[in-house]
Amino acid sequence: MQVLRVTGGARLAGAVDVVGAKNSVLKLMAATLLAPGATTIGNLPAISDVTIMRQLLEGMGCGAVEIKDGPVDRVTITVPDELSPEAPYEFVRKIRGSICVLGPLIARTGAAKVALPGGDAIGTRPLDMHFAGLERMGVDIRVEHGYVVAEAGDLRGAPIWLDFPSVGATENIMTAAVLAKGTTVIDNAAREPEIVDLCRMLVSMGALIDGIGTSTLEITGVEGLRPTSHDAVSDRIVAGTWAMAALATRGDITVRGADPAHLRIALDKVARAGGEVEALADGFRVAIDRRPKSFDVVTLPYPGLATDLQPQAIAALSVADGTAMITENLFEARFMFCDEISRMGADVRTDGHHAVVRGKERLSGAPVRATDIRAGVGLVIAGLVAEGVTEVAEIHHIDRGYVRFEEQLRGLGAEIERVESASFGG
Ligand code: UD1
Repeated sequence: MQVLRVTGGARLAGAVDVVGAKNSVLKLMAATLLAPGATTIGNLPAISDVTIMRQLLEGMGCGAVEIKDGPVDRVTITVPDELSPEAPYEFVRKIRGSICVLGPLIARTGAAKVALPGGDAIGTRPLDMHFAGLERMGVDIRVEHGYVVAEAGDLRGAPIWLDFPSVGATENIMTAAVLAKGTTVIDNAAREPEIVDLCRMLVSMGALIDGIGTSTLEITGVEGLRPTSHDAVSDRIVAGTWAMAALATRGDITVRGADPAHLRIALDKVARAGGEVEALADGFRVAIDRRPKSFDVVTLPYPGLATDLQPQAIAALSVADGTAMITENLFEARFMFCDEISRMGADVRTDGHHAVVRGKERLSGAPVRATDIRAGVGLVIAGLVAEGVTEVAEIHHIDRGYVRFEEQLRGLGAEIERVESASFGG
């Protein structure tokens, strides 16, 4: 089995580049389905989730050409007049993000048959809010044989309230509403930078959307949309991962291509831990030359601290001075990561959706398994501050969301390599 073998001890120093956000790009790619013709998405991360989304779109009749511009790609997706409304299990099971073809398919073809998604093992991830919103717009929706089957006789705008500002539900309702008859108002909408990015691309395709970046989105349906060219917003979770890595390793990392405004709370935590945080024209820098101080973490929808940064924060807190309380409000199973980092000597105790982390001077290297993307990079950060060698298995999770991860780490001075390992046999 391939693992990342990390030898602890290095202080990370230097610069890294962040490109487009996985959680935006997948939705942008799905939204291309809304307009026949060729749409180009730039600042595309070379990650496996993008490859799977491309294959899914090709399976629906689209052409997709990727162009490499150094480490950053562009993809041009050519959407036919006639689309196949089926998203097969073969692709959908691999990435949660593929459920976001539901809204565009309903809008374009009046029907959809989308396999129920797979994705990270971070807890139960229901779709009730997606369904309730689409039903209010006149869509008949049911689950049959592992597929979401949707039929929209007459797709019409409606007032919709979300119980919780779900990212995916906001996206699916919005991408259906842009071609519906009349106006849809989504109250308690998610307002993550990735939602704003999707809104911007839709507007450039001719959609009418008011309230972008707020929790009330007003969408007036139009007859048709046109293809566009759009650069994806940069990945705030990858950028935040580098900030936590700098903190944990008492390092000095310049993160290029990131927007610190998307990470206000996370960077404020870094500053409170003793890190020096400097906003730059095209990113930010985090530097610290002593042991970080502990800080509490509460995960919340944006602009709260992202659940996708929680494992990386725990990794930094496991070697901080003091005790931290972590409250996970989005995905209960995310604490599976705590069992793994505990194998490296971290003092982490969980109870329901809370965890207490008592910082130690150092962890100790061990074989561990990534349970999801963010747990994977959290374990690598832990390996960097552990004595001896850590082997992180199931690294396909990391490849789903991080571009040239170990190469960038080596550039910062880390000792890390991708090798075959016998430790995880059987
Ligand atoms: C997206 C991100 C994921 C991130 C999450 C929260 C993608 C591909 N994934 O996931 O990385 O961790 O946002 O920022 O963009 N919920 C329901 N019913 C629903 C929908 C959601 O109960 O119909 C619950 C979920 O179980 C969860 C919470 O709402 O507890 C938030 O989920 P949501 O914002 O929808 O996350 P995703 O879009 O799945």
